[in-house]
Amino acid sequence: MEARVSPADSLNGTIQLPGDKSISHRYAILAGLAEGSSLIHNFSSGADCQSTLDAMRALGVDVSRKGNDVSLRGVGLDGLIEPTSMIDAGNSGSTIRMLSGVLAAQPFTSRIGGDESLSRRPMERIMKPLRLMGAQIQAREDRFPPLEIEGQFLQSIEYKLPVASAQVKTCVLFAGLFTDGTTTVVEPVRTRDHSEIALREFGASITIDNLRISIQGLPELRPRELTVPGDISSAAFFLVAALLVPKSEILIENVGLNPTRAALLDFLMSMGADIRIVNIRQENGEPVGDLHVKSVPVKGGVIEKGMTAALIDEIPVLAVLGAASEDGLDVRDARELRVKETDRIASVTDNLARMGVKVETRDDGFTVPGGQRFQAAELDSYGDHRIAMAFSVAALAASGDCTIRNASAASISYPEFFDALRRLQTG
Ligand code: S3P
Repeated sequence: MEARVSPADSLNGTIQLPGDKSISHRYAILAGLAEGSSLIHNFSSGADCQSTLDAMRALGVDVSRKGNDVSLRGVGLDGLIEPTSMIDAGNSGSTIRMLSGVLAAQPFTSRIGGDESLSRRPMERIMKPLRLMGAQIQAREDRFPPLEIEGQFLQSIEYKLPVASAQVKTCVLFAGLFTDGTTTVVEPVRTRDHSEIALREFGASITIDNLRISIQGLPELRPRELTVPGDISSAAFFLVAALLVPKSEILIENVGLNPTRAALLDFLMSMGADIRIVNIRQENGEPVGDLHVKSVPVKGGVIEKGMTAALIDEIPVLAVLGAASEDGLDVRDARELRVKETDRIASVTDNLARMGVKVETRDDGFTVPGGQRFQAAELDSYGDHRIAMAFSVAALAASGDCTIRNASAASISYPEFFDALRRLQTG
């Protein structure tokens, strides 16, 4: 699908976001491993989380979905069954990486793969710790999907993560569920802690000592009724859109505000953004609130070191804001962007250049000078959901209509994105 986005005079209204993608994956997997029926409200409408539901179904979990309410009849830690064909993780790195921790411990062999983009994403980061636990895993060129995982009885380990990755942390913690000891993961910097919170909600015993997270193996996981907060990474597109388009005012309701994700708000506020956080509450251990944002001119910023991991998914849309900011945006220490759904340093800088925006690219980041204007252009998501949405936001502030090729990629995390944008444009 090609989307046409016209410049906006203003954006006004109230929106609700799909359920958080990261949390939805974790709830779906843990609900499948609990003993009995769980009900998840506001489950992500994105295709990635549907891939996780389909995978759980392929492993013998009874899954039913009515809109964004999902029930799963969990089979317990020892109740999964051998899938009859290759598990299809689609475009979802979270599905393949998190689920591999579970598959490595099963009394059967499974194969898991995905689309062209997923087939190029590195898996040695999960294969290494899982092999240390005793897993038998084969991969294409020993690093790319599809994976063939011959389940084993796993040993608990202590593992120091070489890259800051919540997906890898989760993979090891999920594998740790199946060992008869304590598995410890040590992070280089804090990454999103939804797994730790969700594991506790389902009854696992987790201890956290600064950057060391330990899980006790063989817990009895309890089924739960849970509500997924709105996805702050999807909120990012509207926050930036409201800041970019003059006379805008948007209320975004029920947004997950977990401190390991909310660095986005601190960063935008450090640029001078006018964002008010109201109605703060807790939902299943996750903080939630409403965000009220108004357009104002913003200064620039620098994303580097530990901050990079905390903002990794929002960098594409922050790059767009950076170009229109007073002083621009500098992104450093962000080589991880190169191994996302696309090489996001390449896909961001390519689309900025198409819009006539000057940008300097480095191996581990880029610099976008501020005070620039977006020329109308033909843009391309290259099949990456966050690139489709980030550049639709840029198009709102462009000199004329823009087209975005492969815009349907947005449905990986946010199928309703273009409808929501249209509603805000008509205010
Ligand atoms: C995620 C972790 C991040 C993020 C991804 C979701 C998660 O990936 O980019 O969109 O839910 O744990 P990495 O763990 O590869 O950094």
